[in-house]
Amino acid sequence: MSSSDSTTDNRLVVVTGGAGFIGSHTVDLLIERGRRVVVLDNFSTGRRSNLARWAEPQHSLSGTSPALEVVVTDIGHGIFAALAPLTAKYGPVGQIIHLAAQVSVVHSVANPLVDMQTNYGGTLHVLEYARAMGVEKVVFASSAAVYGDGAALPVAESSPIQPLSPYGIDKYASELALAYYQMVHGVAGAALRFFNVYGPRQDPTSPYSGVISIFSDRARAGKELAIFGDGEQTRDFVYVADVARAIVAAASSSRGTAPINIGTGRTIAIKELAAIVVELCGGRSAIRHLPARAGEILQSQALVERMHQELGVRAETSLADGLARTLS
Ligand SMILES: NC(=O)c1ccc[n+]([C@@H]2O[C@H](COP(=O)([O-])OP(=O)(O)OC[C@H]3O[C@@H](n4cnc5c(N)ncnc54)[C@H](O)[C@@H]3O)[C@@H](O)[C@H]2O)c1
Repeated sequence: MSSSDSTTDNRLVVVTGGAGFIGSHTVDLLIERGRRVVVLDNFSTGRRSNLARWAEPQHSLSGTSPALEVVVTDIGHGIFAALAPLTAKYGPVGQIIHLAAQVSVVHSVANPLVDMQTNYGGTLHVLEYARAMGVEKVVFASSAAVYGDGAALPVAESSPIQPLSPYGIDKYASELALAYYQMVHGVAGAALRFFNVYGPRQDPTSPYSGVISIFSDRARAGKELAIFGDGEQTRDFVYVADVARAIVAAASSSRGTAPINIGTGRTIAIKELAAIVVELCGGRSAIRHLPARAGEILQSQALVERMHQELGVRAETSLADGLARTLS
């Protein structure tokens, strides 16, 4: 099959980390487009509730067979055994969307070996499966963390690679592995470098979570918001449903691509963001400035030409709309 039109492709699509924030929105979109999805997740940060709507009996594709199968497994231990019973039942895997990861940069600094085993090792397990089983396309969740600081803005995919953490190193190593498997084994791959993703289901209780989910959670409760430094640092916040559309578009083409930035191309300063969130939540929260964090990237903004051209997807949700949906 040269291109896997999601409405006619009846092969399985595997989403590793599919119970997580970005993963569950991706699963929603795939099933809405008629695909049968297998989620591989160890539920370390993912949640059953993120996928709960697909557990209802009406969500079956044919007769009583469900549109979603969930396997609790650790990506660091390989995926052959987890997938064997499902491919025996439903047939082969067409695409793998690989999102499972240890997602904390801070944790990766403290535990670089654990990070490598999950984040780089997990990618190799996915690629080995893809090579052996003839999977058409692997889409990988990379990160703007591969760039480090100091690249000219907006950051082009051709900017120098300078990761500042084991997390960024493992994301880049995974990108190289993807390119290698494409060149040597013919496994088509696409690494998507996500900028700051936000939206519903992002876990506000994790100290490493996205700033929007933490600000929203605190502002709703009338609690103080903390900004590290002067708040002039900028970010390119991209709404999760737009990211899911980019992921599904990448999975729907059988062609491999060079890495692609996933962002909006627009930025906002953190202090402005805090003010907007406080206002949207009724204006009860104070804003406090804490000392700047060492090593924090100051400016971040994606160049998104390649995303538009290669994937035909634009991040069309405005920050105002995305924040309103997140807060509701
Ligand atoms: N959220 C962002 O802004 C952002 C930015 C850049 C890159 N990313 C990448 O996008 C992907 C998804 O991130 P997210 O924000 O949805 O985070 P998340 O924590 O909600 O999702 C990660 C999922 O992976 C699962 N997982 C973790 N370790 C696993 C393991 N060993 N085996 C199986 N499953 C495992 C978790 O349970 C969770 O469901 C990650 O690869 C992350 O590095 C996210």
